[in-house]
Amino acid sequence: MRIATAISEARRRLEEGGVENAGQEAGWLVSQLLGDNPIAIPCSTGADFPPHLQAELDRRVQRRIDGEPLQYIMGDVDFHCVNLLVGPGVLIPRPETEQLVDLALDHLAIDGPVLDLCTGSGAIALAVAASRPSRTVYGTDISQEALSWAEKNRQRLKADNVTLLEGDLFQPLPQDLRFALVTANPPYVSTDEYETLEPVVKGHEPKLALVAEEDGLAILRRIAEEAFDRLLPDGWLICEIGDRHGPRMKDILQNLHYSIVMVKKDYAGHDRFAMAKR
Ligand SMILES: C[S@@+](CC[C@H](N)C(=O)[O-])C[C@H]1O[C@@H](n2cnc3c(N)ncnc32)[C@H](O)[C@@H]1O
Repeated sequence: MRIATAISEARRRLEEGGVENAGQEAGWLVSQLLGDNPIAIPCSTGADFPPHLQAELDRRVQRRIDGEPLQYIMGDVDFHCVNLLVGPGVLIPRPETEQLVDLALDHLAIDGPVLDLCTGSGAIALAVAASRPSRTVYGTDISQEALSWAEKNRQRLKADNVTLLEGDLFQPLPQDLRFALVTANPPYVSTDEYETLEPVVKGHEPKLALVAEEDGLAILRRIAEEAFDRLLPDGWLICEIGDRHGPRMKDILQNLHYSIVMVKKDYAGHDRFAMAKR
């Protein structure tokens, strides 16, 4: 079978299985198995598809049809300036969070370490660490499973400036450590909203990574409160928030006496980031 035929057959099965982006996903699945750059695929589709890869391709196509996220099947995802391993037990980093990394880098003005709370795969911590190799970066997460993905990513990226710790928000950190920047993409989906999420999310990504009490604000509120005493003077707190949280997060941060408080929109025009300067 030609590579082109393998792709079109995978595409047909994905389409019939109700996968929206079937054409592109078929190309990605085939090209990953071939170990090729997807861009090179159009030049080589006339070549033979190695028969020993067919069973594995069929398995991956079936996993996708069964509703597993493509990124778990492929095993990795590009995020900002890094490539991250992902799989069951860890949230797949979302494109809007790349914008948080850009905001973080733009507000890293004073000396001192960086902390990424709720680090998951290590996405934000590792992207900041790769962009600022001389900074010391910490990441914490309450999930041992998520943290094991972050640790794999840390080692793979040779990010020796990153330390990962397991525990609740600031709890695993030395008491006297103060930060130039604290970032967080915490769980912020309300329990009602969770029920409306797509099966590909609800059925596969960890609920612990998504849902928070108090209409999604419970962990964000704790971060806002606890970060104040953990920031160096002029240090910034930058959090990803739900699109309905902007006004309430602004109130919470203003009542805590941060010197500057802002809510910024994502590229889709939704309130997405709460920022506060100590
Ligand atoms: C929305 S995910 C974000 C993961 C990653 N930062 C990203 O942007 O892809 C939230 C993460 O918060 C972690 N988490 C939930 N509650 C926590 C808590 N109380 N303290 C620390 N981490 C927590 C979850 O395990 C999950 O990995």
